[in-house]
Amino acid sequence: MKVLICKSHDAAVERTANMIAAHVRGRSAPVLGLATGGTMLPLYERLAKLHRETDLSFADCSTFNLDEYVGIAPDHPASYHSYMREALFRHVDIDLRRTHLPRGDADDVHVEAESFEARIDAAGGISLQLLGIGQNGHIGFNEPTSSLGSRTRIKTLTESTRTANRQYFGPDETAPRYALTMGVGTILNARECLMLATGSSKAAAVAAMIEGPVSAVCPASALQLHARATVVLDRDAAAGLRLTDYYQHVHPNGEATRFD
Ligand code: GLP
Repeated sequence: MKVLICKSHDAAVERTANMIAAHVRGRSAPVLGLATGGTMLPLYERLAKLHRETDLSFADCSTFNLDEYVGIAPDHPASYHSYMREALFRHVDIDLRRTHLPRGDADDVHVEAESFEARIDAAGGISLQLLGIGQNGHIGFNEPTSSLGSRTRIKTLTESTRTANRQYFGPDETAPRYALTMGVGTILNARECLMLATGSSKAAAVAAMIEGPVSAVCPASALQLHARATVVLDRDAAAGLRLTDYYQHVHPNGEATRFD
């Protein structure tokens, strides 16, 4: 796992945006796996800026989002469909017909899950999967004890995840109990994984993911099994790591080496 510890929150966001931009510029038909959550908002803002101010184009990209709440329609303001439209899609030149999110309002969520996996395969697989991390070590909505071989399916959310995400729902609404999420196995199939984690609330999960055992108790630790996984951190998110001296020695302040 490549561990990049950046000097500041902004530097971590910029580093991640530049890596995504280089990936998109470097291939003819990139297939991006996309993530949601508060951490990704400044990142998408930065990508939109790169699109406005440089030659960065998303016209040839396909995208697959990690997850969506069950029972929530795409036009619900707290849906991840709405999030993606507002945070990224409407600011860049992406072809919306090539953007895919699981439909949480599907009549049959099991059929929807299978069809989502089939759509990823039909696109040739994900070339770069962007990830955030939950405070309990979840990736996508793969809560602790998710099978490390799991595929897209329905997951019951933990109370801590529901509490963290309740802010996005109205005071009279019940935060969703279930989500459709790519599985850990689906995520591991991506040819490259790129995680952005910032802030002290993620420090314990980040330490468990990078330096703890590979365990379904911390689903993000499955990234230790991935041949091309990069984790971009600010100093707060890196605060629980023991081998910081080594990571800084290899990539001072998260910068590239001549071997990258
Ligand atoms: C959400 C999403 C994840 C995200 C995580 C962290 O529940 N399903 O994909 O990485 O929680 O969110 P945040 O960046 O808001 O802390």
